[in-house]
Amino acid sequence: MSKTISGFSKLSKSEKINWIVDTYFSNSKDAEHILKQYWNSDEKLQQLHDEFIENTITNYYLPFGVAPNFLINDRFYTIPMAIEESSVVAAASKAAKFWMDRGGFKTEVISTTKIGQVHFMYHGRKDMLNSFFISIKSKLIEDCKPITKNMELRGGGIINIELRDKTSDIKNYYQLHASFETLDAMGANFINSCLEQFAKTMKREALLFDDFTEKEKQLDIVMCILSNYVPDCLVRAEVSCKVEDLSDHDAFSGEAFAEKFLQAIKIAEVEPYRAVTHNKGIMNGIDAVVLATGNDFRAVEAGVHAYASRNGSYSSLTHATIENGFFTFWLEIPLALGTVGGLTGLHPLVKLALEMLGKPTAKELMQIVAVAGLAQNFAALRSLTTTGIQQGHMKMHLMNILNQFHANDAEKVILIEHFKTNTVSFSAVSDTLANLRMRIDD
Ligand code: MEV
Repeated sequence: MSKTISGFSKLSKSEKINWIVDTYFSNSKDAEHILKQYWNSDEKLQQLHDEFIENTITNYYLPFGVAPNFLINDRFYTIPMAIEESSVVAAASKAAKFWMDRGGFKTEVISTTKIGQVHFMYHGRKDMLNSFFISIKSKLIEDCKPITKNMELRGGGIINIELRDKTSDIKNYYQLHASFETLDAMGANFINSCLEQFAKTMKREALLFDDFTEKEKQLDIVMCILSNYVPDCLVRAEVSCKVEDLSDHDAFSGEAFAEKFLQAIKIAEVEPYRAVTHNKGIMNGIDAVVLATGNDFRAVEAGVHAYASRNGSYSSLTHATIENGFFTFWLEIPLALGTVGGLTGLHPLVKLALEMLGKPTAKELMQIVAVAGLAQNFAALRSLTTTGIQQGHMKMHLMNILNQFHANDAEKVILIEHFKTNTVSFSAVSDTLANLRMRIDD
């Protein structure tokens, strides 16, 4: 049977499933059952999800968990997180509790500017292009009024447009480099619409610009698109306490912990192999909240990692100091988030997540998300520099291993108890379960 098809998107959902299961599965009935098992019985809700993308055949579940007790700028939050990794929510909750007793998290939005660019080719005199740009700049903004009117009423809009000469990188390459304030919207549609209008205006005006030669009038627009690199849409989250208050009773002193923690941070600052994993741990927290609140985690990921390399070498996004007996630990990252538009008003769980957070503005959400990242990094470094990561990680992973062995509820209870005092590993769980099953058979 052919594994390719034309006109697939025009098929009904059932026809799509039939084609998929017949083409790719030896047991098509099983495959169909798995796909349909995830359909929602509420047809309206299912239709809503079907219509988010093209060719939907089922839903893909991720756990939606919550991490309570986050004290941020003297206000308590329970943070929603959508993530599959077993230890992330537990780690966030633990870090929240730890810092709740030490003054909580302090946050600050540093800037909120977003960027978009019209990339184009121009074959001609640079000074003439510059004069052309100066002469049309106000028209570029004026022609966007139907798009920007409402945003301007709320205090946002186009901040500035610059002409940038990029010909030292690529022959004849120039940009309109524009900055925007998009308030509570992530702003992708707003920015892209403005950019496409800039391009139309620029092409139209070039044909009318008398000082251009015929060749110069032929501006060649390559593309118009926002940038997911937003180094001027920055948020900072911080925790701080007396070094001695970091102590974990008998396990370690505050001083020893702070020193080790700082060493771990310094390593991530200078060593890219470590920095990537260090930052991945931060993104465990960030992506989970970004996803739960219906935001674009790919955009956030791309922008954050670019920011981590801004000085020419990939480095840690968090930093720490010990000064005058005080331990301070902070994160500064670019985050372009929205609390209106996109999925935020459509997906019932996203709406619920935002309501749980007190219907935050985009600025507030930036702060909450940054805190989730900082908390996650704190929890990871705390484990890594004390007990090692596997102890907590494997404890949380135990349930996944038990499920892989189809452990029943009674077996789970016994094994969870057993592994409270024993080291979890795949083979240890396998052996202990086999022993238990043998004992029961005897
Ligand atoms: C695992 O998902 C994340 C960690 O590897 C982060 C880190 O190493 O800092 C534990």
